[in-house]
Amino acid sequence: MKIKNICCIGAGYVGGPTMSVIAQHNPEIKVTVVDLNKERIDAWNDKNLNNLPIYEPGLIEVVSKARGRNLFFSNDIDGAIKESEMIFISVNTPTKTYGTGKGMAADLKYVELCARNIGKIAKSDKIVVEKSTLPVKTAESIQSILENAGSGVNFEILSNPEFLAEGTAMRDLAIPDRVLIGGNDKTEEGKKAIQALVDIYSSWVPKENILTTNVWSSELSKLTANAFLAQRISSINSLSELCERTGASIGEVSKAIGMDSRIGSKFLNASVGFGGSCFQKDILNLVYISRSLGLNEVAEYWNQVIVMNTHQRDRFAKNIIKNLYNTVSGKSIAIFGWAFKKDTNDSRESAAIYVADTLISEHAILNIYDPKVSSSQMIFDINYLNTRSEFENKKYLNIKSDPYKAVEGAHAVAILTEWDEFKTYNWKKIYQMMKKPAFIFDGRNILDKDHLEEIGFNYNSIG
Ligand code: NAD
Ligand code: UGA
Repeated sequence: MKIKNICCIGAGYVGGPTMSVIAQHNPEIKVTVVDLNKERIDAWNDKNLNNLPIYEPGLIEVVSKARGRNLFFSNDIDGAIKESEMIFISVNTPTKTYGTGKGMAADLKYVELCARNIGKIAKSDKIVVEKSTLPVKTAESIQSILENAGSGVNFEILSNPEFLAEGTAMRDLAIPDRVLIGGNDKTEEGKKAIQALVDIYSSWVPKENILTTNVWSSELSKLTANAFLAQRISSINSLSELCERTGASIGEVSKAIGMDSRIGSKFLNASVGFGGSCFQKDILNLVYISRSLGLNEVAEYWNQVIVMNTHQRDRFAKNIIKNLYNTVSGKSIAIFGWAFKKDTNDSRESAAIYVADTLISEHAILNIYDPKVSSSQMIFDINYLNTRSEFENKKYLNIKSDPYKAVEGAHAVAILTEWDEFKTYNWKKIYQMMKKPAFIFDGRNILDKDHLEEIGFNYNSIG
């Protein structure tokens, strides 16, 4: 089966970069990325590539070559579905905020809407690929919706979860550790569909890195990968607290255990807590599925990863308050970093939001600087928590476009994202601009403790 046209529904952090790379390596295939959000599509089509809706190192270079050649961004969802033989669903699957499973289960309403629409529009056979992260057995529901809403055409469902991490998405897509394709290899149509997707990835991914499984293993592997990654962070963060009490150093412990090849050195950086749109959502989903199946011990085991992460964020904020003589009321605190990690403009579930919210509750005045997150996004993030009124929040938030402006008269600087530029700042100058004693709370352990203490700072790190 030769694919000539691909449609991807959802032009977000996954749909945009993933389809750009597929288009880059398959110039003979027309790839159309569609979205309900007109503003987002306009930004993807903006002549000025600096205005792309997401910031990701290396993205501009790939988009600039493929866009208009075989990569298109459009709001014409129905048109793109009609002309494509293969349709990726890459829409958001957030945690439910209402009804059964509220606060835990994945909200599949956007996925279901896509499936219903594909069923209604399709007049020829389609391969539908789940790119969004979905609970186990969702493919079954999609199949049922498509069959019931469809007009007799054949739909093959594949699961092809995405493993890219933001900030390194283009590298992760260019040289993925593996590409996972779940499908039904018990039927001829199923086998052909799997092969069609394997062929697309084979244009740049070595065959041995393309793994095919049954659909449910593929769906569960995605949730499991995120749960394992997040578990490592919560594990090291739990020990960072123990280090602070005992005088051991978490950096030294990480290094020592990471040199054991069975453990490995990656994902052992203690921090203010993991953020991002997926770790918490996917683990909550795993907990919900386990509980629904009566597997209470399994559910509790994974839930502890979230409990630990919330505790880590919380104790970081409380440590700032404790060190500033138990009151931050009316004191200026500079917040360096709002994104949930460096090299992205994404702030979803960022630890910075929760730390800032706790400090605002104690009436601290926050001067926030981030190199990539917009001020409107920061205000949205704080208001979204609904802790207090928008009017009230406004009184405590000052968003700065210059880091040196953020530290003027501040009592403390809190580092909440590991942006490289923070390491290169003139910390002597910053010290001079701050109130004394001048505190640094390094939630990412990126600054040079000895140098800062020599300048005169009271330096606090994690673990
Ligand atoms: P996102 O919010 O950035 O993008 C989703 C897009 O889908 C939005 O632009 C939204 O307008 C659009 N959309 C929603 N419903 C639609 C509909 N019915 N028709 C057309 N467009 C619609 O989300 P994301 O970060 O790209 O994540 C997408 C999925 O990929 C999620 O399931 C997520 O768990 C998974 N995932 C994300 C990452 C990541 O790093 N962000 C990595 C791997 C997997
Ligand atoms: C994560 C996974 O790494 C991806 O494989 C997955 O595809 C994606 O989730 C997803 O499903 O959405 P992402 O959240 O973009 O990717 O970024 P990570 O690099 O995993 O970082 C997540 C959070 O953990 C960040 O806040 C980061 O600062 C934090 N982190 C990471 C630590 O605190 N310590 C570490 O050692 C590593």
